[in-house]
This record gives sequence, C-alpha cells and structure tokens, in this order.
Amino acid sequence: MNDSHCECHVTVNDQDHILSVSQTDTLLDLLRNHLGLNSPRYGCGAEQCGACTVLVNGEPAFACTTLVCSLDAHRIETVESLGGDHPLQQAIIEYNAGQCGFCLSGIIMQSVALLRRNRDPTRDDITRALAGHLCRCGAHNRIIRAIQAAAASIRTAGAQTSV
Ligand code: FES
Ligand code: FES
Repeated sequence: MNDSHCECHVTVNDQDHILSVSQTDTLLDLLRNHLGLNSPRYGCGAEQCGACTVLVNGEPAFACTTLVCSLDAHRIETVESLGGDHPLQQAIIEYNAGQCGFCLSGIIMQSVALLRRNRDPTRDDITRALAGHLCRCGAHNRIIRAIQAAAASIRTAGAQTSV
C-alpha cells in the first residue's frame, strides 16, 4: 500500500469486496473492468450523459467520475442486481422503449431511485429525474411511457413489492 493506492470495502449488488485500488480508479473502471458488470456504460466520461449512472447508497451517481477510494463502506447497485424481470425492464421491452439501448442502464437505475421514493410519478417528475440522461436515439417519449407503466404495475402488485 502506498499513497497512490487505497484499500476499501464496498458492497456491489449484495456482494462484499475488499479492494486495493489506485487513487485514480473510477467506479466505472471497477464495475466494468474488474467485476465484469457491463451494464453501466462509458459515454461522455464527464457527467454529461448519464450512461454510467448506478446507485451509491441508494442514490444515483455518475460512475465515470466517482473515485473508488471515496466509496469505503458504500453500497453499489447496478442493473445486474435487478435480475431481468424487474417491472422497469419488462415495461421497456413492452413499450419498445430502447433502440440501441446505450442509455438504458443509466436511465433504469435513475428510475429505480425515483420509484423507490415516489410510486406514482407524474410525467414532469420523470422528466425532471431524467434531465441528466441523453438518449441519442430520441426514444425519450417511449422511455417515459415505460416508466409510467412500470410504476402502475408496481402499485398494482402491492406495497410489499420491492423496487
Ligand atoms: S459517462 Fe458518466 S455521465 Fe456520461
Ligand atoms: S436507446 Fe439509443 S441512446 Fe437511448
């Protein structure tokens, strides 16, 4: 261990990791290149597109600029934690909401955070939550409809459904 490295303990998708990493390693490096979690994408690398968004202690964060050394004892969630049959994932398929899909992982995790705090978001609530997410395919309208449908499905399934 030296000044250029740190040791930290993070929980990623409910799995604990004790890491020795460079002070400059980003969370996106860790997830994609070391843990094989490829859902968060590298787009702008500068907090401008949202493609890398994951949850850190339940809050959306840009993995492209978050340093792993700042995350000791933090909990990270990525799309892989949702398992594939989450209502948001189902609704995106049903509404044909993605084209290339590059933006979707970030949008899904941002929406998970939104639906945890608000199970009945208005279109404006969703638009505000997605303000930092670019979709270069222009699929925003279908994505918003899919999020509204997922919210309805979660409400129908009952309060005990985890988001
Ligand atoms: S890659 Fe992180 S915000 Fe664009
Ligand atoms: S579906 Fe292609 S960037 Fe959004």
